[in-house]
Amino acid sequence: MAELYIIAGVPGVGKTTIGSLAAKLMRTRFIDLSEFVKSDRLYTTYDSRSRSYVVDLRTLSAALSSVIKEEGRPPIVATHIAFKPRGCKVLRVLVLRKNPLSLLTVLRSRGYPIRKVAENVAAELMDEQYVEFVHKFGRSKVVQLDITHLKCHDAARKAVKLLSKGGKGDVINWISLLEKNSKINRLLSFISTYC
Ligand SMILES: Nc1ncnc2c1ncn2[C@@H]1O[C@H](COP(=O)(O)OP(=O)(O)OP(=O)(O)O)[C@@H](O)[C@H]1O
Ligand SMILES: [Mg+2]
Repeated sequence: MAELYIIAGVPGVGKTTIGSLAAKLMRTRFIDLSEFVKSDRLYTTYDSRSRSYVVDLRTLSAALSSVIKEEGRPPIVATHIAFKPRGCKVLRVLVLRKNPLSLLTVLRSRGYPIRKVAENVAAELMDEQYVEFVHKFGRSKVVQLDITHLKCHDAARKAVKLLSKGGKGDVINWISLLEKNSKINRLLSFISTYC
């Protein structure tokens, strides 16, 4: 059965930056799902409000699986959608995490609509990606890495280790961290204003 690794996380967390570096280190292919959807025109429509493509998961699953089956080594697939390409085995999922305040800065600098910024910051704060991927693949396959204070190459090296060897990964609790720094109230009021 064809195999793959997944790098997950909310938009702006670093899937493309770190995933492509990790794939180089592992001498394997990096497949960025959002690029794959665009280049192979696998979307049904473009939602201008959320500035995102709407995909049909069945079509995507079949198309991605045929690409993965051609690879000699398990590729790394970057996605924020928790799904399994048809007939493929997911070896491990790495969820990248970034302090919501840092994520806020990245997403704002991208010029995203403020509502989209708030939605993604809220998703990071509430561990949404971790919960979704654990739900889909089980706790034993999913590990997390906090990249907030890591340089890209260090993050990529850690990502390779976690993907190929497993291990505990990081335990994330942004709410308690931000409470300690007395920053949670401002962040929550930002989220509730725009979500
Ligand atoms: N240590 C770091 N690791 C990764 N990215 C970092 C780091 N520090 C800052 N950044 C910045 O964070 C952003 C991460 O963006 P990137 O495109 O890799 O995220 P993404 O998860 O692929 O987003 P999307 O889901 O929208 O494709 C980049 O602008 C990058 O320059
Ligand atoms: Mg990306």
